[in-house]
Order: sequence, then structure tokens, then C-alpha cells
Amino acid sequence: MFEPRFSRAAQRLEADDADLWQVHTEAMARHANGEDVIVMSVGDPDLPTIDPIIENAVTSLYRGRTHYSPGMGEPALRKKIAEIETEASGKPTTSDEVIIFPGATNAIYSVLRCLLDSDSELLITEPTYVGYQGIFKTIGCTIVSVPTIIEDGFAIDVDAIVAAVTPATRVVLLNTPGNPSGNVIAGDDLARLAEFTRARDIWLVCDEVYSMLTFEKPHVSARRAADNLDNVIIVDGLSKSHSMTGWRLGWVVAPENAIPTLLNFTSATVFGCSQFIQDAAAFALENDAEYIAAIRQEYRKRRDYAVGRISSINGLQCHLPDAGMFLMLDVSNIAQDGESFARQLLDEVNVSVLPGSGFGEQTLHHVRLSLTHDVEVLASAFDRIETMISGD
Ligand SMILES: Cc1ncc(COP(=O)(O)O)c(C=O)c1O
Repeated sequence: MFEPRFSRAAQRLEADDADLWQVHTEAMARHANGEDVIVMSVGDPDLPTIDPIIENAVTSLYRGRTHYSPGMGEPALRKKIAEIETEASGKPTTSDEVIIFPGATNAIYSVLRCLLDSDSELLITEPTYVGYQGIFKTIGCTIVSVPTIIEDGFAIDVDAIVAAVTPATRVVLLNTPGNPSGNVIAGDDLARLAEFTRARDIWLVCDEVYSMLTFEKPHVSARRAADNLDNVIIVDGLSKSHSMTGWRLGWVVAPENAIPTLLNFTSATVFGCSQFIQDAAAFALENDAEYIAAIRQEYRKRRDYAVGRISSINGLQCHLPDAGMFLMLDVSNIAQDGESFARQLLDEVNVSVLPGSGFGEQTLHHVRLSLTHDVEVLASAFDRIETMISGD
């Protein structure tokens, strides 16, 4: 009888986060059953990829753009990203510093896999994007988690990060604008961390996938804030900004000292991204000014609506997110914890939200709401939340 044996990495991945997704999984099942569930527990934009991008991809497919692509990515797309990154950073950026990946998740995995060993320490801030956990487990490194300052809108605490660094720290991973907090990290904080980490031979990796979805406060890229880019790597992508989650398109901008290593890794594991998707991505980035303005406006409208409703419901509190499509709702005054609130909300009024425990200890009494519905649906969701809280 064959006894299947799996690698330690695969075993580490065996889910112990089923509890976190229980409410969501159940909500999806009810939804599939035709029940009137409002799903606010995932971050997949409700807005469709716009037609011109789809048409571009289709044309590209018919043009025969269906073959292997270079490991670094298609030159036209990398050139466009280099232009965007030059503007975002205020520093000349060339295509040689840009590598394309099939989504930011794969980009982050590849970067961390290239920088960390299982005996390395990775320093992150909390609340932490839940999708990193699988990557961390695969790598098997030690995770050191540093709380943010919730009262200050989830601002990072640079002193606490500096104090948490040890000789084993190899990478500080930041996420700005942040998921789930919606916090935009201040340029001064990024600059201080970039300088500190460089002096200690530590990489600063910054996930900036919400960079285009900011509201009042502008996004500051780690590459803009840092004086020296030797140790700074940023990740971005099209999933959120262009409602292109299913296209799987992300990129890394890294100093030239890291490019050969990253290229070796992605060549060995991905072997190039789809040509037609990269064509459509270059087209999207060339022609997105109006679209991005509209999408920002839409998320801002939703955020303002949600925050307005929350402030009128006794017992609920939240900070105004600076960016992105999420809102962290503090339920500490009315529920035992985020998990029980999420459970009750689904059971009683068919709204699903994600318990804050998935993002770390600090947000046990929060739930994350995804603003991936138009205001009419959000209105109905908040009516239901109000009904549940008032016990009517
Ligand atoms: C902070 C953050 N990074 C990365 C990702 C994943 O992006 P992609 O779809 O490009 O893999 C997400 C998706 O939710 C995210 O919120």
C-alpha cells in the first residue's frame, strides 16, 4: 500500500485557518443555493475589467500572441511600468529593474523565497494581509509581527519595528496602502525604515498593490521615500486597480543587484507570463487615466457611505481608510469578538464579513468589510447590520 509522503513545506500549508474562512465559505454556499446573502468577506472587485482591455487581449490572442514570453516579461509592458515607477518614485527607473509575474502573490512569494531561508526572520506589521500566511508557511521562516498604532489609523510604529530587528532579520515586509487597514504609510516613516534596514543589510520589501486606489492622502512609494534603493523592492499589480484579479498580472521593481536572482527563480518556476495578458496589461496602463479616476471616485463614495452609516450605529466604530477597498470595523463594544460578530451577522441577517483574527491578535475585536458592492447593496447590508444590532 502506497504511503503518500509530502514535503515539510506542503505540510506547513495544511490549513489551520478553516475557522477564519468558515463564515465566508458558508456564505458562498448559501449564495450558490440562491439565498439572498451579501458577501463582504473577500477582496475581489465587483467592477468588471473594462471592455477595451478585454478587446485588446482578444485581438492579441488572434495575432498569435500565445507563445512563451521572456522570463523578465514583455519589453513593452516593462517599459511602461518603468515609466510609471519613474514618476511614482521621482527616480529614474529602467526596464532592467522591472520583472513581470503572474500576479502580486506570486511576485511576493518569489521575492521572499529568494531572500529568506528557513532560519531567517521576516518582520511584518500587524494587522497583516491574510494572503501572506501561506507564503510564509511555504518558506518556513520565523515571522516577527509588530503591532501598528490602531488609534492613529493603523499607522506603523517605526520605533517598535527597529526594536524588533535581530541579527536574524533578513526582510522587513510592509504593505502600503494596507489591507485590511486602508492605512497609507507616511513617507517619513518609510524613509527612516529604508535607511535603517539598509545600514543593517536588511531588505525592505513593500507591497503596493493598492497604490492607485488612494483617496485624500497620496500614496508614497517606498522607492520615493528611500534615499538609496540598494535594498528596496516593491511589488504592484493590476488586480485591484484595474479590476483584473483573474488575469494574474503583477510586477516587481528591484535594484539591479537582485534582478539576476529573481530572474533565475521566476524562469525556473513560472517560465514567463502569458503574452496576450501582458499586451493587455501594457494597454491598460497606457490608457487608464480616466478609468482609474472613476474607480477611485467609486471606492471613495462607498467608503464615505459606509463610514457615515457606521458612525450612526451605536456601538460601532471605525477609522477612515485612506485607500483601498476595505474597512476595519471595531465591534468591541457590542460583541464578544470579531468572530462571534461575523457568525451572528451571517446567521441572523445573511451578511458575511471576515473576522479580524485572520489579520493578527491586534484585531480580534474587528471585522473586515469589503466595499466591493455599490452603494445600494451597501445600504441594504448596513440596514441588516442595524437590524441585527438592535435585535428587531
Ligand atoms: C495586500 C495585498 N497584496 C497582494 C494581493 C494579491 O494580489 P494578486 O491578485 O495580484 O495576487 C492582495 C489581494 O487581496 C492584497 O490585498
